Parts: sequence; C-alpha cells; structure tokens
Amino acid sequence: MNTSVRRYPLGTLSAEEFLHRYWQKAPLCIRGALASFTPPFTPEELAGLALESEVESRLVQEHPSGQWQVSHGPFSEEDFTTLPESHWTLLVQEMNRHVPEMALLLQQFSFLPGWLLDDVMVSFAPIDGSVGPHADNYDVFIIQGSGRRRWQISHQSASAADLLPNLPLRIHAHFVSEEEWILEAGDLLYIPAGMVHHGVALEDSLSYSVGFRPPAIHQLIASYVDDYITEARTRLEASQEEEPFLYQPNLRAASHSGEITLQTQQQVAATVASIPLDTKAIGRWFGRYITETTAETAAPYPAEELTLRQLRERLSTQGELWRSEYFRFSYIRGEDQQTYLYVGGEEYPLPSRLQPLIEMIASDRRFSLQNLATAIGSFGEGWELLLTLYNRGALFFPDVDP
Ligand code: SIN
Ligand code: CO
Repeated sequence: MNTSVRRYPLGTLSAEEFLHRYWQKAPLCIRGALASFTPPFTPEELAGLALESEVESRLVQEHPSGQWQVSHGPFSEEDFTTLPESHWTLLVQEMNRHVPEMALLLQQFSFLPGWLLDDVMVSFAPIDGSVGPHADNYDVFIIQGSGRRRWQISHQSASAADLLPNLPLRIHAHFVSEEEWILEAGDLLYIPAGMVHHGVALEDSLSYSVGFRPPAIHQLIASYVDDYITEARTRLEASQEEEPFLYQPNLRAASHSGEITLQTQQQVAATVASIPLDTKAIGRWFGRYITETTAETAAPYPAEELTLRQLRERLSTQGELWRSEYFRFSYIRGEDQQTYLYVGGEEYPLPSRLQPLIEMIASDRRFSLQNLATAIGSFGEGWELLLTLYNRGALFFPDVDP
C-alpha cells in the first residue's frame, strides 16, 4: 500500500481557485495529480470481485455492428474468458467499500464536502473499450490508474432526442469532440455534472472515477415535507389533539358554487406556507437526510458488540480504528455549546468540547489510538461515542471485523 500521495490532487491550484473556476463549470486535466498512487489491485483481481454477488458490476460491450450491450454482474469466469480482445469495459462500483486503499484515495478529495461523495467506481478496458459518449448527473474526477485512455468532451446539450434509442445506456448519437486529453497513469480529469464525455482505452486501461452526487431537488423537498408531517403527526398523537382541517369560519358567499375563490386560494397558500422554513431546523433535518444512504443496510456488523472496556483494550492492541465506507459522517455546529453529529441518518447531539473528536471522525478515515486519545482528552463521553458508533458498524478494527 502506498500512502505517500500528496494531500490534494489539484497541483498548483488552491481548493478555492478550483471551486471558483472549474467546479460544476468547466473540465480540468491535471497531469501527475496522483502520480504516487499505485493501483492496489490488478485487472484480474477486479474481475474476481465482479464474480461476487454483493459487488455491483457491469460489462459494456460495443459490437462490430455498432450495437451496444450492457450486462450486470455477478459474472462467471466464463463471461470473462469468452470476451473479445477489444471494445469492452468492466465497471465495478463502490470500490472504496471493497478495497481499503481505495477509501484512502477519497481522502485526497477532502476539499469537497463528504456528504456529496458517492463512491469510487473502477473500470478496466482493453484497447477500444468505451461506454460511449454520455453525460452523468454527478461530478466526477477520473484518475488514470494504468495504461492510457483518450477522453473527449463536448459542451453540446444533453437532450433526450440526441440519445441512441432503446438502450440502457444514455449514449449520445451525435457526439462531436471539442477538446481531448490522453490520460496516463496518475493523471486526473475533472468532468462537471452534465458535460458529455467519451473515454476510449488506447491499451489495457484501468481508471478510477471518484463521483460527487448532489441530491435531487424534488426528492429533497418531498422528503423534508414528509419528515415535517411525520413529526407533526407524532406530536399530535402525543398531545391527543384532533387532526387539523382547513375550516373556514370566515367563509364568504361566492356567486357560483363551482368557483374556488381568491379567499380560499389565499387560505390554502397560507396553510402550505406555514411549513416551517427555519434554516437551523432544516439544517438538522438535512444532516439526517443526507447521511442516510441505502448502503448502510449492507454494512457488515461488528463481529461482536463490545463494552467500553473491551473497545479500549482492543484499540490498545490493534492501534487503529477505521471508518466504515458504508456510512456517511457529517456534523453541524449548533448553538448552546452543542455540535450535532450525523452518521448514517442518525443525529447525535454532543457537547462542543468533543469538537476535536467530531471533526476528526467526520473528516478522516483512519484513527490511531494516539490521535483519538488526544482528541478526546479527559472527556470520557468521547469514548462512549466511539463505542456507540463501533457497535453500530460505523467504525471497525481492520484486522478483526468482517
Ligand atoms: C469509464 O470509466 O469507462 C466510464 C466512466 C464514465 O465516463 O463515467
Ligand atoms: Co461518465
């Protein structure tokens, strides 16, 4: 394992400059950005992972007839031995969960919010392998692991009419390249969400895609309203009050019973607008919402639940606790000396004297006993927090737990 990579992959650019000039605006190629990161697995090992049922994988093939074919894993060994010499790509999702070194790669992107991070996808393609020109609705940093791949981009709009029909891939039929780069091992290409891009392997090529996926706005709003209603109903049940209805004791006579009057429209609008829009309350809801991922249902639980004493003993022998890639961690600085930590959809209100510990576990991925002890200091509730997160499967011991 090689951990001697630079802290940021942006070369001479500061994080502020990158965000200001490129983030969700323009593509950017940085040569040698991750030159010292060596692939922690071979293409054969990648194919081996694609045989496993809990690993999400796809094979995309471009047939000589121009037809595209997508098949989903788990694959059999025969699926690979019968593949042609060229024109196919194997894509494996969530590699940060399956290979610990890939999780460390994510630390290179700590200039972006952790709650946006989706996963690391790894793809292998022999010569001419491609998934076709397409746009993704997330931002992606593509890092060339080995071999070379040519990437082309276009600013053309991504309308549905431009897509090849009847395909599970959203391939653009009329792609015209406007700019291109040939990526070599260690080079990085940032592609903003929505920008059409087309990668073609020039030889056996391994690349990693670090994806940052923003939440969909309609889903976000629907989920907030749903959460608000669920809480309002719970409060109502607890207080044993009646469900509120849109009663109108001031109803004015309408000339036609068929009309929805302006008075009624105003009352309905005022009722809908009565949903609280307090930034702090919405922030705390968002912390739960955005850290809740379906991934944690697949998270391996600790081999056994520990007591605080056992956790501290094991930490002394193991020396390190790691953060599970199946959980998102974020926090909000509250008022009244409180910090709210969010882990996999749960809120943990904590005293702000635990701020150094909270910042560390929400931003890093591996924690040495010494760093934990320094961050916790004499505040014993910090150890309690680690225990709760450990027994939930959100932290683990690398050599002991599944
Ligand atoms: C690939 O790695 O072949 C495809 C990645 C992408 O364009 O999204
Ligand atoms: Co893409």
